[in-house]
Amino acid sequence: MGSRHLTIGLSLTATWRKGTRPLDEADAEASRKGTIGFNVELAKMAENAKLDFVFKPDFTGGPPSGAGQRSRTDKPASPENAAVGLDPLLMLAAVSQETDKIGLVTTASTTFNPPYQVARQLQSLNWMSNGRAGWNIVTSMDGAQNFSDEPLPSPEVRYRRAAEFTDVVRDLWNSNQFGGDAAPIDHRGEFFSVRGPLAIPAHPAGRIPLFQAGASDAGRDFAASVADAIFGAIPDLAAGIELRGDLRRRAAQKGRSPDDIRVLPGLYFFLARTREEARELHRLGHAHLGREKRVESVRSIIGLDIGEMDDDDRVMASFLPDPQTPVRSRTHADLLRRFIAENEPTIEELLARPEVVGSAHWVSVGTVDDVIQDIVTWHEAGAIDGFISLPGGSWGSMQLFFEELMPRLSEMGLFRKEYEGSSLGAHLGIG
Ligand SMILES: Cc1cc2nc3c(=O)[nH]c(=O)nc-3n(C[C@H](O)[C@H](O)[C@H](O)COP(=O)(O)O)c2cc1C
Repeated sequence: MGSRHLTIGLSLTATWRKGTRPLDEADAEASRKGTIGFNVELAKMAENAKLDFVFKPDFTGGPPSGAGQRSRTDKPASPENAAVGLDPLLMLAAVSQETDKIGLVTTASTTFNPPYQVARQLQSLNWMSNGRAGWNIVTSMDGAQNFSDEPLPSPEVRYRRAAEFTDVVRDLWNSNQFGGDAAPIDHRGEFFSVRGPLAIPAHPAGRIPLFQAGASDAGRDFAASVADAIFGAIPDLAAGIELRGDLRRRAAQKGRSPDDIRVLPGLYFFLARTREEARELHRLGHAHLGREKRVESVRSIIGLDIGEMDDDDRVMASFLPDPQTPVRSRTHADLLRRFIAENEPTIEELLARPEVVGSAHWVSVGTVDDVIQDIVTWHEAGAIDGFISLPGGSWGSMQLFFEELMPRLSEMGLFRKEYEGSSLGAHLGIG
């Protein structure tokens, strides 16, 4: 465990509205404020609690489902629902005008965009926000049908393209230094030919921090080469210790300091005044996911059909499909395969797992004390450098997070009390 404090972000996805719980204050608030207004309000709450950044995942393949994402069936259309499909960069550009300090991390796919466009858009957000932009680099799991008739390239090709794409973007940012001369980059590579320089100079706040999501072998290698932080799908402590240790080793092998890369899992929390209430929030938050949907989730993640099995039947390691079977995300498939191989769980146990019902994110359910205890345990075990909050359950749960949990983390010395700088790079301690 390092001596620096935790790095904490807030996901601007409506995770607390999932499930079948009765309408609560958040819904009313969201309708009152409208699509952008509500996200601005969340960002202001996060800034008030001195969080490092707000974060917007983005999928271009249609409405997603799962924790950290939005289910297509669980709520009727509303202005706030529309926020799910908003272009993240435009949304964060609006948020930038209503906030002063908090970082703004947007997601842009290296599979579906040209690098010049992404370099320019990110640098524009950086200027609009006075140095607060961050880029979450994704290679995407689906959505190819919305860009051409070509199928999604293989993961290996996507990561090769991502590496070249990121080099080009960084070269473009460097090609036009603030107060200096702009020079062409004349890039010619496997995927791109880009002359440059970028039309807009680099903001003087310093380089734009890079985030990455995707933890297969190729994903880890890529993250270890370029990322300042990774958004991790980490369902349990052992998975966190393994991922963080491995990324730190890989970063060192590439000549970086292990501390240069932060592991930030999604933390899907359900907070209430009592454990019973919190457990009920958690139950309601998952009640819309019936057996059939969970069975379908297992099939789509690893290609295993368990539809005919009974709840107390065990899923043996030998039932796992050939590891070479193509999957949407090797990260999510590997996590679920690992759980089955190590535990040979009953169907009932398997269908309750975060890998099956919550995009493999870390789930913490209980009082403020309970969730703080989980955070401290994971931090002390070396599994995390911080987390990206995915509020679950209710508006009340989110209020407990901002009004009680965050101040407690600050009092304990685990989180800042005040911002020292006003750029995302300053919050992360990178120049
Ligand atoms: C925690 C997590 C979050 C992700 N978020 C996004 C996203 O917002 N948009 C997207 O297009 N892909 C997203 N992805 C997909 C990855 O970028 C990647 O395409 C996928 O995981 C396959 O890579 P892999 O072979 O390393 O698993 C995410 C993946 C993970 C693990």
